[in-house]
Amino acid sequence: YVIGIDLGTSAVKTVLVDKDGQVVYEVSEAYPLLQPKPGYSEQDPEAWVEKTLISLNRMMKDSGVKPSEVEGVSFSGQMHGLVLVDDAGKVLRNAILWNDTRTTPQCRKIEKVLGADLLKIARNRALEGFTLPKILWVQEHEPEILKQAALFLLPKDYVRFRLTGDYAMDYSDAAGTLLLDVAGKEWSDRIATAFDLPLSICPRLVDSFDQVGILLPEIAEKSGLLSSTKVFAGGADNACGAIGAGILSEGQTMCSIGTSGVILSYEERKDLDFEGKVHFFNHGEKDAYYIMGVTLAAGYSLQWFKETFAADLTFDQMLEGIDSIPAGSGGLLFTPYIVGERTPHPDANIRGSFIGMDAGHDRTHFARAVMEGITFSLKESIDILRNSGKTITEVISIGGGTKNENWLQMQADIFNATILKLESEQGPAMGAAMLAAYGSGWFPSLQECASHFLRTAKSYVPNPEAVAVYENLFSVYQDVYGQTRELND
Ligand code: XUL
Repeated sequence: YVIGIDLGTSAVKTVLVDKDGQVVYEVSEAYPLLQPKPGYSEQDPEAWVEKTLISLNRMMKDSGVKPSEVEGVSFSGQMHGLVLVDDAGKVLRNAILWNDTRTTPQCRKIEKVLGADLLKIARNRALEGFTLPKILWVQEHEPEILKQAALFLLPKDYVRFRLTGDYAMDYSDAAGTLLLDVAGKEWSDRIATAFDLPLSICPRLVDSFDQVGILLPEIAEKSGLLSSTKVFAGGADNACGAIGAGILSEGQTMCSIGTSGVILSYEERKDLDFEGKVHFFNHGEKDAYYIMGVTLAAGYSLQWFKETFAADLTFDQMLEGIDSIPAGSGGLLFTPYIVGERTPHPDANIRGSFIGMDAGHDRTHFARAVMEGITFSLKESIDILRNSGKTITEVISIGGGTKNENWLQMQADIFNATILKLESEQGPAMGAAMLAAYGSGWFPSLQECASHFLRTAKSYVPNPEAVAVYENLFSVYQDVYGQTRELND
């Protein structure tokens, strides 16, 4: 057996996986989000450790699996969150998370100081969520804390440190800090020096499938595992989500619709220039990368719609009948910018719209239009990838968006690609378990692990008539951004 630990934003999800990729036990433990001021989002790293140990302990007690049967443990983690530790490994302040938005001034400073070097080296724009802006915020507002910091870590790296006593960070997570030379796979002296940061605060870099240690004796005792259990580095949640969906070779692309939406594609070419329109991060696979576009309010738009206009219904009830409305929702169009947008418009101020309302429309038309608008936003990311020369004929769809068959068909028609749905989908926790399985030597490659562990359940083929309708509507959709931007300036 191997264990995958997915350290999320609201909870840690832990899966115990056998040699056939079956999840034999799963446990989830929640922890609070601390929001001391508007825009602030923090967590107490101690809560992550405590809940991870509770999860492991429960798993070992209840699953019936013997500790000696567990070969390895690995991690997936929420990206970008800043954990600062002193030279004794003590946490110096609460972690500042990826969804904290206090760092706009620091982002502008990074852009100004680094100019074109930022995209050349870190391959990503300075966004509030990333780690370097958070370090600069602490440098400016809590200088005495940064002075005591011996090292910065990302959330799952801190938990792994507490479990093993070893410090490390894998490339896929380091890529989200803005301190990594993404193509060169080393910490950037140029970036650190530009902000008076000693390179010594950056931890040792490793691959996601590298073994970084074994469990400390007191951790073994608390968790119910043996201290000889191998601990592998693990990766960023998006990288692990991709691994768990089998996105491990050229041409493979994934669409994930959760609260936010992600289009993610495997990439080996490291010299591509997307002008920062999409994220470009190191993958968990050796020397591989992935390109990622993000729709901020994907599932969140539909949830907002339900809460606002159909609070008394379940999702299934609200979506009943959307299949009898033709593609294009009778001319009703929605843009899902209800909390701003990331790809292709990194714009926190833009807001959404409904256009083309008709007296004959009812709530079901609106619900369908919301789903189409979310999918159009994701199609913008698909188009950026296609324009870079990528062929996208198949997309593996994961997340809450796969629960509705109509939405899967809509993805096929809007993306003009076959949509594949997996048989059992475990998300990033499965990717973490696969890193432990591959790291433990169960398979000669991560790809072989994926073909042994993952199976496609169903595919959805584009319907040419709907594809043509959506192509027309998509060009209208793309114009709406420019037309409504002024409303929110
Ligand atoms: C990626 C990002 C989020 C977090 C969520 O850039 O900010 O997907 O990784 O945990």
